Amino acid sequence: MVCPSSLNQYSHLHVAASFRNFFFFIPTTLALLFLTSLSILFYVYTTSIIFINHHQHHHLQSTSQYFTSLSSLPVLLSPTTTLHNNASEFTKFQTFQLGHGLPPQSQRGLPSQSNSTRKLEKNNNLFHDRDLFLEDYKEMNRSFKIYVYPHREDDPFANVLLPMKHEPGGNYASESYFKKVLMKSHFITNDPTEADLFFMPFSIASLRHDPRVGVEGIQDFIRDYVQNIVHKYPYWNRTGGADHFYVACHSIGRSAMEKAPDVKFNAIQVVCSSSYFLTGYIAHKDTCLPQIWPRKQNPPNLVSSNRKKLAFFAGGVNSPVRIKLLETWKNDSEIFVHHGRLKTPYADELLGSKFCLHVKGFEVNTARIGDSLYYGCVPVIIANYYDLPFADVLNWKSFSVVVTTLDIPLLKKILKGISSDEYLMLQRNVLKVRKHFQWHSPPIDFDAFYMVVYELWLRRSSIIISLGDSRD
Ligand SMILES: *[C@@H]1O[C@H](CO)[C@@H](O)[C@H](O)[C@H]1NC(C)=O
Ligand SMILES: *[C@@H]1O[C@H](CO)[C@@H](O)[C@H](O)[C@H]1NC(C)=O
Ligand SMILES: *[C@@H]1O[C@H](CO)[C@@H](O)[C@H](O)[C@H]1NC(C)=O
Ligand SMILES: *[C@@H]1O[C@H](CO)[C@@H](O)[C@H](O)[C@H]1NC(C)=O
Ligand SMILES: *[C@@H]1O[C@H](CO)[C@@H](O)[C@H](O)[C@H]1NC(C)=O
Repeated sequence: MVCPSSLNQYSHLHVAASFRNFFFFIPTTLALLFLTSLSILFYVYTTSIIFINHHQHHHLQSTSQYFTSLSSLPVLLSPTTTLHNNASEFTKFQTFQLGHGLPPQSQRGLPSQSNSTRKLEKNNNLFHDRDLFLEDYKEMNRSFKIYVYPHREDDPFANVLLPMKHEPGGNYASESYFKKVLMKSHFITNDPTEADLFFMPFSIASLRHDPRVGVEGIQDFIRDYVQNIVHKYPYWNRTGGADHFYVACHSIGRSAMEKAPDVKFNAIQVVCSSSYFLTGYIAHKDTCLPQIWPRKQNPPNLVSSNRKKLAFFAGGVNSPVRIKLLETWKNDSEIFVHHGRLKTPYADELLGSKFCLHVKGFEVNTARIGDSLYYGCVPVIIANYYDLPFADVLNWKSFSVVVTTLDIPLLKKILKGISSDEYLMLQRNVLKVRKHFQWHSPPIDFDAFYMVVYELWLRRSSIIISLGDSRD
């Protein structure tokens, strides 16, 4: 599908699009491609969209291709809106792209929806561009190198800095899992000169539980840690930290960088609480760590289970969104929302429902998406501004339903509006996508570990300018 020249074009673009060069490069391209016709709005649009779907880089190759791709996108337009030029179309598109991250399928249920002109081209593929992903993944697997700041077994904070010995478990296991698997992987290099990225291996979860640090002490600990590597090693200063990353799953990680602003603004933050509207998270620089409760083996009746319930949710009612959900659907005979303790096993509910709701609580993230995928239940995401895991690689529309919180009252209408064919397609893709949301130690190709590493690979800085070599 992807011809060699477009691949070259892609990798060329990719190399050039390192974060620091990005703002220089895009205007140049645009100037060449769209000399006169497009306004500054278009510029804003491209800078916001390009990192969302890296596959769109090659859409930039030709204007016609680019417009084709745009015209097939769902656009929030009332039927009466007249398009004066394509820039206005971009602006409209941008409104919801920035707002919800994903084209809201909930448009299905909106009364203003027009079915006349814009028949959407259905994209049922799991990947935005599978061939491109596979090609790039292989290249990553071959060449990506990560240097981990070394710490000794007898370091007083070895518990925080070294990978845990036992099997990570629980709600925030992703953080420990990633570190544990990374340290043994072939991506590790002991030679910092060949490293693409540098890993700061502190564990937010361990710091939180360490009585010497605790929630109050995390910010100071991180500040001191970063100061340390800034002075002790030459690598941070070369990029201001742009080729450094850390990994955190608990939402406390968000405020942990308050006293280390360079980490917040320059480094790559791989975090579970990846919301477009949190000040600590910078979409496209940072990336989402999927929150996954680790489980062994497959549930026995994954495929055969009889899903009688339309939708299911269980959880604490700790946010306005969940209150709204409960108020609206608590007595319903098809949408089951529980608060407090479940009387039936959680697994049975997930296996017995067609759709499983992921509803924003305190944070946009919970392990619920991972849970529903594991049990073969199509996730319904009701969490505005959630930068969904691997969204620049995976086509979330092909295996989930994304609903804005405003549409909670329309939930039943939206879900029932999904035909059985469409549902089967979604569920088939759920079964296919499951492997990307599972941890393994040692890792298995395309599992959660490899996918997160791939997201890091997309964010690597290709060109590191040495600011005077302090090593000799
Ligand atoms: C605007 O986009 C449409 C496709 O959406 C294309 O057919 C048309 O030529 C474009 N117009 C201009 C002025 O570029
Ligand atoms: C939309 O489609 C339905 C049936 O698919 C049809 O009855 C209705 O008239 C259409 N509405 C418009 C505005 O075209
Ligand atoms: C990735 O690298 C590992 C380790 O070298 C190897 O086992 C695996 O087959 C590779 N996968 C792909 C898709 O290249
Ligand atoms: C990096 O820059 C900081 C601030 O300019 C300086 O204090 C530090 O010594 C530098 N680190 C190295 C290893 O030269
Ligand atoms: C649900 O049922 C209770 C009692 O059966 C009733 O008081 C309440 O108004 C109902 N709520 C809704 C949203 O229908």
